[in-house]
Amino acid sequence: MGNEVVHEELSRRAAISTHARSRSLYDALSPWYDLLTAGQENALRAAALKALALQPGEHVLEVGFGTGTALAAMIAAVGETGRVWGLDLSLGMARVARRRLRNTRRMSCVGLACGDALRLPLRAASMDALFLSFTLELLEAAEIPIALGECRRVLCRGGRMGLVCLSSEAGSPAVNNLYTWAHVRWPRVLDCHPIRPREWLAACGFSILTRRPMSLWGLGVEILVCRSARVQP
Ligand SMILES: C[S@@+](CC[C@H](N)C(=O)[O-])C[C@H]1O[C@@H](n2cnc3c(N)ncnc32)[C@H](O)[C@@H]1O
Repeated sequence: MGNEVVHEELSRRAAISTHARSRSLYDALSPWYDLLTAGQENALRAAALKALALQPGEHVLEVGFGTGTALAAMIAAVGETGRVWGLDLSLGMARVARRRLRNTRRMSCVGLACGDALRLPLRAASMDALFLSFTLELLEAAEIPIALGECRRVLCRGGRMGLVCLSSEAGSPAVNNLYTWAHVRWPRVLDCHPIRPREWLAACGFSILTRRPMSLWGLGVEILVCRSARVQP
């Protein structure tokens, strides 16, 4: 077994315990999540979906769909001929999302699953677009390339990926530093942490199509749309 494969396997095993903690945190938060994040986060998510510009008939996956706010908008964007998939670690979040989507009366074109971003249960090159909103920055540094590798694998040639995430390359440096300090102190409560998404994307073979630096109460956020820059092996 090569070094890279061993390293990937060790990262996956280490991820199991941190992900179990993450799952129970989001299970507990799920009934209150919409109340806690109403307002600015909705606007950022909507701006990111607009940048991704989903088209009727497209097949799209959201990784870490939470309570399903973005899934509902995706269903409307891809129309009757499209299809929407969602994957999330937390059963509690999935329950809330399912309730929300039932109201759209379009459950027949939606597939929801509980699972891990590190192992997407989808065929290679099966998605026209992917969406991740405040999810990539929950992962440990060693896990981000694994998750982005999975994203590249399931995207079809020319497929796009839309991201909205906390970023240390936007917003106020003072607020970012303060938040990062608090994240290091209380990682189980403040589980998201600002990352450098453009560096991760470039390292994992994506090229950026559009970028919009934003902020959430001074905390840096980036909205990015990218596509796979390498030809799939
Ligand atoms: C901060 S919430 C964001 C939810 C939603 N995307 C939004 O914008 O409101 C992160 C979500 O990612 C899920 N999540 C965390 N780690 C994950 C993983 N490794 N694989 C899949 N989902 C994960 C959590 O259960 C949670 O629903």
